[in-house]
Amino acid sequence: MAYSDKVIDHYENPRNVGTLDKADPNVGTGLVGAPACGDVMRLQLKISDDGIIQDAKFKTFGCGSAIASSSLVTEWVKGKTVDQAMTISNKDVARELALPPVKIHCSVLAEDAIKAAIDDFKKKREARQQKA
Ligand code: FES
Ligand code: FES
Repeated sequence: MAYSDKVIDHYENPRNVGTLDKADPNVGTGLVGAPACGDVMRLQLKISDDGIIQDAKFKTFGCGSAIASSSLVTEWVKGKTVDQAMTISNKDVARELALPPVKIHCSVLAEDAIKAAIDDFKKKREARQQKA
């Protein structure tokens, strides 16, 4: 399988690998798996109270395309609002990385991870507001 230059770049120099503090109320965690291959991606976003994504970190146990997809979206989401980040689709990721059809599900993982992380942040915020 020939990887595109962009996939190789992100795979060899992944951006924003790591972990954010789950206990931080402004951190949302998205953990998603790809049924097609069993790969797993964890994306964490630090989101300000007014809905700006300030930081993003990922850990992906998977193929080169999945690692490149997660690395790319951490770059894309930083500085965006939650609403803007929700519009990032796997098609954008697949196009940017020139993923072949058999690797499209790797980019779906990245889209799903963004949505799951934002969802987790929103749930945490609602829980806090109910307590307050
Ligand atoms: Fe799991 Fe991609 S199939 S590495
Ligand atoms: Fe399954 Fe890439 S995430 S092959």
